[in-house]
Amino acid sequence: MQNIIFRETTSDDSSQTLIKMKKHWGGEPLVIRTKNYYPSKLNGIIAQLNDTWVGFLFYDLQGDDCEIVVFEVFEKFKGIGTQIIARLKEIAKNKQCKRIYLMTHNDNLDALRFYQTRGFHICGIHLNSMEFTRKIKPCPEIGDYGIPIRDEIDLEILL
Ligand SMILES: CC(C)(COP(=O)(O)OP(=O)(O)OC[C@H]1O[C@@H](n2cnc3c(N)ncnc32)[C@H](O)[C@@H]1OP(=O)(O)O)[C@@H](O)C(=O)NCCC(=O)NCCS
Repeated sequence: MQNIIFRETTSDDSSQTLIKMKKHWGGEPLVIRTKNYYPSKLNGIIAQLNDTWVGFLFYDLQGDDCEIVVFEVFEKFKGIGTQIIARLKEIAKNKQCKRIYLMTHNDNLDALRFYQTRGFHICGIHLNSMEFTRKIKPCPEIGDYGIPIRDEIDLEILL
C-alpha cells in the first residue's frame, strides 16, 4: 500500500479509462440490465502507484443513489479495494446520497465476499438475466472458478 495515492478523476483521465475499459471489460459501453454506461464520461476514483493505475472505480449519481458502474483492482487482495470503497462512501455522503449499489454476476465470488464483508447486502437477484444482456453485448459463458455466468445480483449499502 506504500506510496499508492487515491485521487478523484479529472477529464484528463478519459483516454486512459477508455484503454483500460477495452483491455479489461471488452470496451465501452458497459451494459447493466439493458442500460449503457460510459465510464470514461463518469466521475471516479483512481488508485495510482507512480504513473501506474493499480485500481479504479467509476460511479453514477442518480438522485439519492450512487451506483458503482465499474470497479477493478489490478493488484488484488492487498487492501486497495477497501481503500477505494472507503473513499467512495465519503464522496457519496458529501453528495447527500443515501445508498450505494451495484450489480455483479453469480460467478463473481470474490466480489460477493468482498462486498458482504464490508456491509453490503444482496438486494436483488435476476435469474438468467444474462441471456438477455448477451443480446446487447457479448459476454463469456463461463466466468470465475469455471462457473457459468447466468444471473445478475444487486448489492446495496445504506449510508
Ligand atoms: C473485488 C475487488 C474490487 C476487491 O478489491 P481488492 O483490492 O482485491 O480487495 P481488498 O484487498 O481491499 O480486500 C480483500 C477482500 O476481498 C475478499 N476476497 C475475496 N476473495 C479473496 C481471496 N481469494 N483472497 C483474499 N481476499 C479475498 C475478502 O473479503 C477480503 O477481505 P478481508 O481482507 O476482510 O478478508 C477486486 O478483487 C477486483 O478487482 N475484482 C475483479 C473485478 C470485480 O469483480 N469488480 C467488482 C465487481 S462490481
